[in-house]
Amino acid sequence: MTKLAPSILSADFARIGEQILEVERVGADYLHLDIMDGHFVPAITWGPKVVADLRRLSRLPFDCHLMVSQPERSVDAFREAGADVITFHLEATPHAQGLLAHIRASGARAGIAICPQTPVEMLDDVIDDCDLVLVMSVNPGMGGQRFIARVMEKLRSARALIDRRNPRCELEVDGGVGEANIRDVVGAGADVIVMGSAVFDGGEPGERLRRLRALL
Ligand code: DX5
Ligand code: ZN
Repeated sequence: MTKLAPSILSADFARIGEQILEVERVGADYLHLDIMDGHFVPAITWGPKVVADLRRLSRLPFDCHLMVSQPERSVDAFREAGADVITFHLEATPHAQGLLAHIRASGARAGIAICPQTPVEMLDDVIDDCDLVLVMSVNPGMGGQRFIARVMEKLRSARALIDRRNPRCELEVDGGVGEANIRDVVGAGADVIVMGSAVFDGGEPGERLRRLRALL
């Protein structure tokens, strides 16, 4: 069954605990945490301390999406903070294969993310070592952007690569997904759907997540 991963980037941080428990109650599968360092992307979000604090609040698997340069410097801190899935960008390091192995050895699941302009073929030499592939359908860095239509085709290519080489790997799509296109991304082969603004804008994330789930 398709997994839904609300991204708290669009949550109301004055009510963050309450909003996380709300999406957990209505059956979120993962909690997606966007880590931004002000270098790989212009924005800055939060570090391991925030992840560790939220870890005490929620039982959801934490899906940490590292939009940071030199991710090899920070994966251990996020693992210690309680990340269950650690995904870094292929564009951010020349050491992807080793880093995937390192993350797995730490007991977490290891994911690789690719930006909209990075071809799926770039995953050929690392796909065997991935537990998750994250295909970005907007340019990383902020919530509420429009889905880049061309990415639908990339999802199909990534699905085919995964089916052929590593069927246990999950395919996650991130950016610009909501009521209008959630069925399309599932049709293109996504297993895990990240949604920020579609869930949290408007302040009733539980109700919104329930409606999105009902569309599938
Ligand atoms: C963007 C982040 C996303 C973001 C998605 O760089 O990786 O996880 O929260 O937000 P929406 O769903 O609003 O496009
Ligand atoms: Zn993300």
